Amino acid sequence: MTIAIGCDHAATALKEELKSHLRGRGYDCKDYGVFGEGKADYPLSAYQVAAAVAAGEHPLGLLLCGTGVGISIAANKVKGIRAACCGDPYSARLTRQHNDSNILCMGARVVGPELAKMILDEWLNASFEGGRHQIRVDMIRKLESTGKL
Ligand code: RB5
Repeated sequence: MTIAIGCDHAATALKEELKSHLRGRGYDCKDYGVFGEGKADYPLSAYQVAAAVAAGEHPLGLLLCGTGVGISIAANKVKGIRAACCGDPYSARLTRQHNDSNILCMGARVVGPELAKMILDEWLNASFEGGRHQIRVDMIRKLESTGKL
């Protein structure tokens, strides 16, 4: 499986660390940048990763910025994206099982690299449970499509 990955300037070091971690676990990564320390606008990386995931080019994405919040807000503007900003492994697991999240977001200024790996592993190891949760995800899709419920 190939994971789409992107970040802003606040999270390039964490991105590299998580890419190595993913590759060590047998995943491929498609890196949408950014690279280096120059100031970067997180909505652009969010859009590139989210658009690729929404188009079915990659099943899952990983987005990183300083807090994980801005990049998740931007990613969630792309139709079909359910981006979850997580700072703990429990939320990461539940957001796959219950929300069918397709992008995980984290903040490099919030979580250290070892916690980030645990959060990422928990998210990847979980799968959507469907059932009553499918009804709720369908409601989110309807809200996304029509602007109301
Ligand atoms: C960049 O300074 C910072 O605003 C960004 O990384 C992120 O935290 C936004 O939500």
